[in-house]
Amino acid sequence: MQVVFVLFQELQRYIGFTAADEVVLQGLHSKLQPFFPAIVETFYARVLEHEDSRAALTRGEKHVGQLKGTLVKWMNELFEGPWDERYVERRARIGRVHVQIALPQHYMVSAMNVVRVGLRERLSQVMAEGSKEAHAARDAVERICDLDLALMLHTYREDLEAGQARAERLATFGALVGSIGHELRNPLGVIETSLYVLKGRTTDERSTKHLDRIGQQVTLANDIITQLLHLIRERPLASTRVDLSELMTGTLASTAPTVTLDVSPGIHVEGDPTQLRQVLVNLAQNAVFFAGESGRVEARLHRAEAGLVLSFDDSGPGIDPSIRNRLFEPLVTTRAGGIGLGLALVKRITERHGGTISASRSTLGGARFTISMPAIGATP
Ligand code: HEM
Repeated sequence: MQVVFVLFQELQRYIGFTAADEVVLQGLHSKLQPFFPAIVETFYARVLEHEDSRAALTRGEKHVGQLKGTLVKWMNELFEGPWDERYVERRARIGRVHVQIALPQHYMVSAMNVVRVGLRERLSQVMAEGSKEAHAARDAVERICDLDLALMLHTYREDLEAGQARAERLATFGALVGSIGHELRNPLGVIETSLYVLKGRTTDERSTKHLDRIGQQVTLANDIITQLLHLIRERPLASTRVDLSELMTGTLASTAPTVTLDVSPGIHVEGDPTQLRQVLVNLAQNAVFFAGESGRVEARLHRAEAGLVLSFDDSGPGIDPSIRNRLFEPLVTTRAGGIGLGLALVKRITERHGGTISASRSTLGGARFTISMPAIGATP
């Protein structure tokens, strides 16, 4: 038996949800069903009203029409039951979908409240206020809403626990990577030296081509090791006053000239210019890669109330929902040939500069990465 079903049964006992409630809910179904679409309308109107919950609609607002249909179906099941193991598994899966799209947990409570209030209002229309039946109906509806809410919140707990387990694995992985990285430097160094010697002695064109290819791959292997070591090592920040506006304009002009820039001049931060440059390069390269040859990338840097806001927008396919809430973890990537260190490094460096990074949907159709960071001269 699944753990979540055991939890569900325990909660049923705690809340006092019994076979009598099941009968009441099934009896209410046909009376309340005509109102489901209207309740769902209010539900999504509320979601769309708030910027943060609207941002969770990663597939765009057009997708809302389809979601309304799934919510009506969800309400039908709420009243129809049976409230068995398969019901619980379906509910847990819905919760996992929300976790996967990184919908903040607190929305669940308020969203369920919209459903609750909607049902309560409709109940008072179809039943005589104060009657025994009305009390029983109201109690049954409250209980099933509580149970469904508990199931959805449980999936967030599952996710937190999985996150902790991942963090432990990553810590072990970090130590391992550190030692393997160091050990690999020596053989790679020997290969590089021997390549140099061989290249000096080879005149044959095909052999030279292959030696060059080996050289490129050795450089790539060295880069990967360097990035991995950067990620696991707390390199001290070589902090100085940095003109981020200038750094951004210069870095992008040389590494990603196709990016459209909108940079306010004279924004200064206290930070490590080499590491900040790495942030800009990684974000720009990702955006350019996903936008593709005919796509668009826009980068912005402006002052904000508590510092600065830096963002990259691209017209690519957007963030893959399957990795959305692991986006900044090492070794997570959807880039062909990528090893998934770029964004992890960006997050690490941003946080070491007192900043935060988030990902959302861009108005260009693809992804937007936004960094907020303290700036010199801004009011914290
Ligand atoms: C009482 C609270 C909620 C219920 C019962 C509910 C129900 C559902 C259901 C049944 C699905 C389909 C799951 C599947 O594909 O298997 C779903 C998906 C989704 N829900 Fe909710 N939802 C709730 C709250 C919210 C809120 C507050 C948002 C805010 C934006 C939201 C956004 C979404 C999105 C974006 C998806 C689709 C994810 C995807 O497939 O890309 N939900 N929800």
